[in-house]
Formats: sequence, C-alpha cells, structure tokens
Amino acid sequence: MTRKLFVTTALPYANGPFHIGHVMEYIQADTWVRLQRMLGHEVHFVCADDAHGAPIMIAAEKAGKTPQAFVAEVAAGRAPYLEGFHIAFDHWHSTDAPENHALARSIYVALREAGLIDVRSVEQFYDPDKGMFLPDRFVKGECPNCGAKDQYGDNCEVCGAVYQPTALKNPYSALSGATPVLRSSDHFFFRLSDPRCVDFLERWTGSGRLQPEVANKVREWFRPGEDGRPLLGDWDISRDAPYFGIEIPDAPGKYFYVWLDAPIGYLASLQAWLARSGRDLDAFLADPAVEQVHFIGKDIVTFHTLFWPAMLHFSGRKVPDFVYVHGHLTVSGEKMSKSRGTGISPLRYLQLGLNAEWLRYYICAKLNSRVEDLDFVADDFVARVNSDLVGKYVNIASRAAGFLNKRFGGRLSEDVGVEGRALLDGLRAHAGTVRELYDTREFGKALREVMLLADRVNEYVDRTKPWELARQPGMDPALHDACTVCIEAFRVLTVYLKPVLPALAAQVESFLKIAPLQWADAQRSISHGGSHFIGEYRHLMQRVEARQVEALFEPPPAAAAGGVAEAGPALPGGEAIGAEIGIDDFARVDLRIARIVAAERVEGSTKLLRLTLDAGEGRSRNVFSGIASAYAPEQLVGRMTVMVANLAPRKMKFGISEGMVLAASHGDEKAAPGLFLLEPHAGATPGLRVR
Ligand code: MSP
Ligand code: ZN
Repeated sequence: MTRKLFVTTALPYANGPFHIGHVMEYIQADTWVRLQRMLGHEVHFVCADDAHGAPIMIAAEKAGKTPQAFVAEVAAGRAPYLEGFHIAFDHWHSTDAPENHALARSIYVALREAGLIDVRSVEQFYDPDKGMFLPDRFVKGECPNCGAKDQYGDNCEVCGAVYQPTALKNPYSALSGATPVLRSSDHFFFRLSDPRCVDFLERWTGSGRLQPEVANKVREWFRPGEDGRPLLGDWDISRDAPYFGIEIPDAPGKYFYVWLDAPIGYLASLQAWLARSGRDLDAFLADPAVEQVHFIGKDIVTFHTLFWPAMLHFSGRKVPDFVYVHGHLTVSGEKMSKSRGTGISPLRYLQLGLNAEWLRYYICAKLNSRVEDLDFVADDFVARVNSDLVGKYVNIASRAAGFLNKRFGGRLSEDVGVEGRALLDGLRAHAGTVRELYDTREFGKALREVMLLADRVNEYVDRTKPWELARQPGMDPALHDACTVCIEAFRVLTVYLKPVLPALAAQVESFLKIAPLQWADAQRSISHGGSHFIGEYRHLMQRVEARQVEALFEPPPAAAAGGVAEAGPALPGGEAIGAEIGIDDFARVDLRIARIVAAERVEGSTKLLRLTLDAGEGRSRNVFSGIASAYAPEQLVGRMTVMVANLAPRKMKFGISEGMVLAASHGDEKAAPGLFLLEPHAGATPGLRVR
C-alpha cells in the first residue's frame, strides 16, 4: 500500500545561519524521506524559518533592521546549505507568512470556543526605558541562592538554582541596564490542565507513537503533584506588545508567544506547498491515510508531544502520527551553543571542498532510533569514510569497470555463472532487512549490513582475481562474467546506499546508463540478455585526507592574522577584531580593580608569577599570571590592575588560580614582543567595577 507522508523537521530560528546540529537533523530526515520515495510512497517534506519571538526582534533592532528584513536576510542564506548537503525539502516557508497568521488565529479561535482559553493577570518585570515586558532571559541580577552576579532571570549558571525572575536581587534589564519594575498585564492561557486535555494527552502519548524513552519522560507530567492534580500546568501563550509575532484575535496589543505559532508553521508550509499544485490543505489532511511525521531534537519534546498535539486535537484537526526524537550532535565531545553552534561551520565544510556525502554517510553510520547524542570525531570520520565508502564500496566499481570498457566495449555479459548468481541472490535477499532498518531509523545498523554485503563482493573479487584472468589466454568469458557480477553487485549496493548518498547514486546511474534507481531495482538485473552497455568510469569518490578535516577546525582565513592584509590596512595589534558581541555578552565579564598585595616567582615555571590580589572583598585572591617575562615581582607589589573577577577558578599545576589579570600584547609575539599590564588612573580603589 502506498503511504501518504507529511514530513517535517523542526523549524530553525531565523536568528542566524544553520549550524552543524541543524544539518544533522536534516540529514536524518532527508535520508528517511529518500527511502520512502524510493519505495514509491508519496511524501511531502517541508520546513520553514521560525521567524517570531523577542530574541529575534531584539537582534533585528541591534542590527538596525526591521524584524521582517532581518529574517528575510537569514532566509536568503539557507539555499547553499540545503543544496550543498542534498537536503531535498519540497518547500521552505516562514512562520511570518500569511498562511501561518491565518492558521494560528483559526486554531486559537477554535480552542477558545472549546472553552480552553483563560485570561489571567500576570505580574512580570517591565523595562521602563525600553517600554516593554522583559522575557526571563533579558532580566539579570544576583542569584537569590548564592549571590552570584549577572545571572539570568530563570536560573543561576554558578550554583544551578532555578527561580522566578522576580526573586533576583538587584535586578536589571539586559537590554537597557535599567532597573525593571513589576507590572501586571493580562495573559492568555491554554488550559492544558483541563481534564479533557490530560485525558487526551494520556491516551495520545501512550498510543505507541513515541519512542519508549520519550513516552516515559513526557508521561511524568501526568503524575499528580502535591495538590493531587497532574503536574501539567496551563500554558501562557500570549506576550504583550512590542513583540514580533501574530496578533491575537480580539485582543489588541497581545501577540501569540512564538511557540504557539511555530509548529502551526508546519501546516502553513504544507498549505503553501500543496497550493502550488492546486491542492487544499484541509482536504489533504482529511484523508485518513495521511501520516504526519515530525523529526525533532531532544530539547523540544514537550512542545511537540504535549502542547502541539493538544492544540491540534482541540481545534478539531489531525494530530501527529509520529514524533521522532534524536539526540544532539557534539563535536569532539563538546556541546554546541544554541546560537553559535560549534567551531565547525557547515558552510565552511563545503567551501573547503569536503564532500557533503562524507558527512551524510558518517552521521547516518552513527545514528540509531534512540535519543542518543552523537559525537563528531575527526579521526573516526576519516577512518569511516575511507574504509567503508572508498575502500569497500567505490572500489568494487573501479576494479571491474576498466576491464569491461577496455576489453568488452562496455557490454555486460549475458550470464554471470553459478557463483556470481549465488552472490547476487544473497545481496538481493537483504533488501527487506535493509529497508526495515532505514524505515525504523536504525541507519547505523542498515549501513553496517550494507558494508557486510560489500565485504562479500570484495571477497568474490579476491577469489576470482579478474586481474589474473585478464592475463590468461582463453579466460575472457570468465573475466567478462566476473566483471559483470561486480557491476551488478555494485548496482544493488548503490540501491541500498542511495537514501544516504543521493548524489553519488546519480553519478552511478549515469555511469551505468540506467534510470534513477528505485528500491525494487535491487531485485532486477541489467545484464540479462547481454545487451546492456555501461559508460566510461570516472572516479566516483576521493578519499578524505586528514588535513582537510583539520582545516575545518582552524579559524577561517578572514579571522586569522594576515588573512585580510591585502584587502585593507594592517591588522591592529597583529590580529583581526573579534566577532561582534552584544552589550549583554560583555556584561557577563565582571572586571574589577585589584591591588597587587604580593608577587613572587613560581618555582618550576619561567612564565608564571603568583599574585596575591585584593579586590575589596575582605579576602585576598591567588592568581597565576603569565607575565614573568615582562615583570620582576618587586616591580608589581602595591600597584593597581584590572582583574576578571568572575572567571571560574582554575586548577593549575602550582595551585588554584582564582582570577585573571589583564595585559596587552601583539598577535605575533615574535614580531612585536612586549607585555603590558593594565593599570587604572590614580584614584581607583580595589573592588570598583570596570564597565
Ligand atoms: N525554533 C525552534 C523549533 C520550532 S519547531 C516548531 C527551535 N529552533 S532551533 O534552531 O533552536 O533548533 C532547531 C532544531 O535543531 C531542533 O530540533 C533542535 O533540537 C535541533 N538542534 C539544535 N542543536 C542541535 C544539535 N547540537 N544536534 C542536533 N540537533 C540540534 O528549537
Ligand atoms: Zn547561584
């Protein structure tokens, strides 16, 4: 039976370019979609930019742009990534598009009519300078638990405490620095705690649509809390103007919270896509055969397994059939920051000439159906790609094609012999297993299976030794058969790898002069009848060089010293100015005036001095500083300097360093030696903040 699939990935925030984590999610979904298409199923695979919300509004303002222009610019940069990594979305939309405005309003009105919307007064911090309510992330202050300064409004990064922004001591607005005031305002709530919602969600989350570990986790929300009612609370879905979002019907100045209209963007994107072929969204979704599938990361599970299904169900719409959750990609064991990603940029990967399908293969080889994180490790990447893709798979074609072209005019032989037939039948018998593994997102297992099959083919080649047959008189028919077997086998393996390696498969199709491979083609044979001619073999895939991957981790040329020498004036201080940061980024660094109370050499180190600093805290700090080449200890005692006061203490060979003093130096130490400690003008006293 033909499946009708509506498939999405999460909608990325339109606040910057894709990072490698986004690309991983798209590779997973795209591979799954390509399998379904090869099986002849109907697939509609869509995505969109998640355009709304306070952070994007604020980022746009900082950039001096309207939010619309800001997100349009981000959207305009998407294509090179998607094309570059062969991500075949049918359509890319925006949550700010008219379809989404209309859908969000109509879903909301339906929820209101179902009696599931409440209005309640909420007291919240308001920035009097900016004239706006502050999202939790934009209120900062001292942690009510440990007293750490400059902590976010919802949790402390120093002690890990979680609290309401109103609990912060000496709160300030991260936008203007102003002291926020408490103000009340009406907020709209989706009454998720209504027994109807809890009932429905208990059923929906327990109906086998979720991975077991995901279902177990979200079902904790149905456990009774202290008051005997489920922990699942009502959801605040409104924000006050100014806000970049969709205005709530009959509530001027109130906007939907970004997470309300974001998933509705799935429907808006599908609607726009269907409209292109004159089809109607509601008619399409009314077909009970349609399966709605969302691929998402582990950080956004509650939105997709509680809020979203409830929104759909109680507005009388189709609910998701499957939500497939993946873990996060880390790079060399390091988590990436949500906004900046990691050191490796997907675009840089492409610009450096690394093959997109190396990454597709590597990621798929490490993916399974569970919510596990996946680590990108450079050495592992090189080894996996070279040994599997080049060594085991591509090698088969290169070993056979030369003989076929030189000796037999490119024609495949009529027969393949008993051994050849057994080998090919063996490969074909695995089509069901491999398909099933892809279908259940066990990509790693699927690829291991395929590589075991490739091993069998290589063993066949090693046994039949075409290179020897080629030298023996009268062995032409055997050589012809052996090479034909290799090409047939290569073709079957290409079917199995095509969901992961679509561009390589297209090259193979043109080399073999065959129509685009479908899954069922694994069972067919092209040599049958002895009248098929293959084309010229051109090298299908290079090996990865370790240095190519290393280059990925180096800073891009523009940021390295000298990289822009031609384009402009000499680099200030021998290095390019760093990437732009916001004032709140700077505010996180707490710089204080400190008196150097004592200084001494460190035994066993030529670089370090041990400083005892007084930053007005009623205690002294021990700081190791790499300034021994520039200062004798006695020169420093009694002088004032600037210290980073909120740097995490660092354990060094010689003891614990509880801060850092600031000194200036040239980017190229050898070309321009010298180290200059910072010193405030006269009058500054220990403890004053540098801002
Ligand atoms: N805009 C919301 C999603 C709205 S969906 C209606 C969002 N955007 S995001 O840009 O932060 O993340 C988009 C997707 O990328 C999410 O599924 C998220 O889990 C995924 N990833 C973010 N970091 C990732 C990794 N490090 N690794 C893999 N996926 C990652 O959340
Ligand atoms: Zn704290």
